[in-house]
Amino acid sequence: MCGIVAYIGKKPAQPLLIEGLKRLEYRGYDSAGLAILNGGLNVCRAVGRVANLEDKLEQTGGLQGTVGLAHTRWATHGGVTEMNAHPHRDDKSGICLVHNGIIENYSVLKTYLQEKGHVFTSETDTEVLAMLIGELYEGDLEKAVQAALREVTGAYAIAVICEKEPDVLVCARKGSPLLVGIGSGEYVVASDASAIVAHTTQAMPLDDYNVVRITREGFRSSDIHDVEVSPKVMQLELDLEQIELGRFEHYMQKEIYEQPTALRNCFRGRIAMEEGKVVLGGLSAYAKELVRAGRVILTGQGTALHAAMIGEYMLEDLAKIPACAEYASEFRYRNPIIEDGTVVIAVSQSGETADTLAALEEAKDRGALSLGVVNVVGSTISRQTDAGVYLRVGPEIGVASTKAFVGQVAVLSLITLFMARRRVMSADQCARWLEQLQTIPDKVERVLEQSDRIKKVTERYCDRENWLFLGRGYNYPTALEGALKLKEISYIHAEGMPAAEMKHGPIALINEGMPAVFIANKGRQYDKVMSNIAEVRARGGHVIAVATEGDEEIKRHVEEVLYVPEIIEPLSPMLTVIPLQLMAYHAAVIRGHDVDKPRNLAKSVTVE
Ligand code: M6R
Repeated sequence: MCGIVAYIGKKPAQPLLIEGLKRLEYRGYDSAGLAILNGGLNVCRAVGRVANLEDKLEQTGGLQGTVGLAHTRWATHGGVTEMNAHPHRDDKSGICLVHNGIIENYSVLKTYLQEKGHVFTSETDTEVLAMLIGELYEGDLEKAVQAALREVTGAYAIAVICEKEPDVLVCARKGSPLLVGIGSGEYVVASDASAIVAHTTQAMPLDDYNVVRITREGFRSSDIHDVEVSPKVMQLELDLEQIELGRFEHYMQKEIYEQPTALRNCFRGRIAMEEGKVVLGGLSAYAKELVRAGRVILTGQGTALHAAMIGEYMLEDLAKIPACAEYASEFRYRNPIIEDGTVVIAVSQSGETADTLAALEEAKDRGALSLGVVNVVGSTISRQTDAGVYLRVGPEIGVASTKAFVGQVAVLSLITLFMARRRVMSADQCARWLEQLQTIPDKVERVLEQSDRIKKVTERYCDRENWLFLGRGYNYPTALEGALKLKEISYIHAEGMPAAEMKHGPIALINEGMPAVFIANKGRQYDKVMSNIAEVRARGGHVIAVATEGDEEIKRHVEEVLYVPEIIEPLSPMLTVIPLQLMAYHAAVIRGHDVDKPRNLAKSVTVE
């Protein structure tokens, strides 16, 4: 998704902005640009990578100045062209702005501005906002921004500068994340902490309708009606090392290998083995409500939804609470029924996904107790839920989510045991679950050791354009996750589904040599999965099975086997997903794709 970096201070802005843009590259973008104030306004934009923008700046001698803003654009309104790239400006007033989000009423505003004589050079909704601020400008940038934002509907995070006020930077937010990093005599505004931490660890996340006017001497925080808002400054829990590639070739690869450590961090201090219970400080104030909960709705998108689906199974199976997992994008618009005692759990790595946030709001408005299962500390979802449990898996930069998935499943299993122990589970039973849970990081390590073998298997099949991923019970969501991983980075068409569903139509797709990945670990439905495997092979399909170590018999029934260590079934997705992540990673590398910058994808989807 689009990225914003802006700076006001005493240092040269250009290198700092470029470095910030590079830190935001992982979010996905198709063009980039920056503007710097130095007597006048200087703008440079380029299609493609930040490196193209750098080249262009070099060819033109670069831009001097200590106040500026920069942007990576992910096209929504208008194609990928230099004219559509940000920053956008209003020449009459000398106003220049970068924007993340979508201005929904841009068309009406554009007509109004055209009638006033404004001439547009791009197809974007952002240029409309720049012109609107310019139209309303009467010598005070902060006031003009507030006035313009009172007229717009939609989502925005913006940073704005003006030729006539060269020592002022104004930023604002509604629905799209934005942070003000607070240094000494300098401020770095960014849509993501990763562009700030090299300069300061003190930051102020903006709330919806917050407008902040920044000078080198300080800042003023207000809302769009100019009512002062007291600033909430937080410490960023992110260090530079965590967001560097180190010895790895790709962030996705790094994050796959970080999973054992990520899980250990996730469990640390949360498992009280002797008492046979789970300690979740974030939930303790709501323990009573959770014990009495009548229903749990888990919601999210993409990978987060797949983790939520596993949470649904665990909550019903172990804590005996009616539960359901739903796409946030559907939940938010379907007039849902929220009875007394309903708990909604928003699952999200970024904590900024627009649909998940909207579903959460809808559930809260209807009286649900809201919990967040979120990775990014201080993110919007983490701030807007009543309580929550952080994943603690560290920053996830790779667009394809990996360690966040195992972290989400791990946290949902902790929440399940937290509730189960208080409702239906004895201390001894709970202790046995916790013992199993604690073995997972080492077992993940054992699966990772098989990366070379997984690569070889992948090599044999990665020229095929259609794959199936099939599983049952707890590993049906794992099958969905395997298919999602493969398609998003290798661009191979893959479908995930419950193994039993295959017979209801998709079996027609199976032809000679079509790869079908089965999650066939030992569990309640093992025999049924084996029957489905036979059906695929009878039609010429080639089966790659993810099976339990020690299951030698399965080798006689499939083309390839990838083994995972034995584990109690509800916890198995944290192991069975690992070979699928590695297969997707290897397939993308073999096919020559940029694993960390998959086409058309954004790390965090902050628009509908
Ligand atoms: O930040 P979130 O977890 O809310 O993001 C949800 C999805 O956009 C995300 O999981 C997406 O599906 C990933 N690209 C999957 O790898």
